[in-house]
Amino acid sequence: MTFKRMELEDWFDRYQFEFDYDIGESGIKFFSTGDLGLDFSNIELRYGHHKGAPELRELIASDFPGLKMSQVAVTNGASESIFAVMASLLGRQDHVVVEAPNYPSLYEIPSSLERDVSLYFLRYEEGFRLNLERLKEEIKPNTKLVCLTHPNNPTGSVITESELNEVIRFVESRNLYLLMDETYRDLAFDTPPPLAATISPRAISVSSMSKAFGVPGIRIGWVAGLESLIDSVRAVREQITICNSSVSEKIAFAILERKQSFLEKARKTVYTNYKIMDKWIRERSDVEWISPAGGVVGFPRLVEDKSSEDLCTLLIERYKTFVVPGYCFKMPRYFRLGFGGDREEIEKGLEMLDKALADIGTK
Ligand SMILES: Cc1ncc(COP(=O)(O)O)c(C=O)c1O
Repeated sequence: MTFKRMELEDWFDRYQFEFDYDIGESGIKFFSTGDLGLDFSNIELRYGHHKGAPELRELIASDFPGLKMSQVAVTNGASESIFAVMASLLGRQDHVVVEAPNYPSLYEIPSSLERDVSLYFLRYEEGFRLNLERLKEEIKPNTKLVCLTHPNNPTGSVITESELNEVIRFVESRNLYLLMDETYRDLAFDTPPPLAATISPRAISVSSMSKAFGVPGIRIGWVAGLESLIDSVRAVREQITICNSSVSEKIAFAILERKQSFLEKARKTVYTNYKIMDKWIRERSDVEWISPAGGVVGFPRLVEDKSSEDLCTLLIERYKTFVVPGYCFKMPRYFRLGFGGDREEIEKGLEMLDKALADIGTK
């Protein structure tokens, strides 16, 4: 069993402290502790509850109509939830179908665990919309799990409620499970579909504080699903991290307690930025994209059919501007843009992108 580095995380690890302008990140602009106005003077720095702090689990469960707190575990980021779900559900002979492009953990974890993995690719020509018929073609007799991410990272595609219901009906009919990564759900531009775990016991919802709430550094995420799965998630995480940081749980609770007002502000900024980026791309002849329907990222491509790697490297090395090359998502012609930051940073970053595009001779 070999855990290889993910190309996406390698890119981040190399460049995420090297830029002046960030137009590639997949979350809203991060906060500092001072922005949150919290009192850190009396937090017990002890081991925590292994499924997460009860008050935090209760608060998260209250967003899931029909689910109990016992059906929620809080983990070190959505990453740990994804790992624990995969490790819990996928036996040696099981197969998993993962939507791509996607946050690479969704396929790299089962692949590292030496499970049988198939990728089902969203297509530009289909507006990056889910195509259930094509997804079904990837199903094998030993398929156990289907993984989707909507709003999708990196395309910004958002599944509709009826599409989600259709996927769930299919999953139920075949006795499969659906892992729905809902990390960007709170940043859908329109009303998002219901949380998957509220629709079926065969659906598992995963989410995080990292993207919509601007606190990836606290490493808090969660998973909701069958109680038996949550028990198994605990068994897995007890062998990796045991529990969450008590400081982080306190921060997550404080933010989620005022979730709606927090999100209202974030959504406004994100949507304004999205409009700026969308207009910028639509006015160009060398870059095109499918306008995202939610989240904080989109996945443009060069109109000329060539890799974006030179462009992305030039951007970071000459123009100190951070975007993510498409090879990190197994689609080299594309690159990821993020519109979660400050407006000035987005505008300045696009100015740099214009220069880099001119340098590589796309105009
Ligand atoms: C779709 C998706 N899921 C999960 C994660 C991991 O998030 P976390 O920081 O909560 O581990 C990411 C991070 O980029 C993501 O984009």
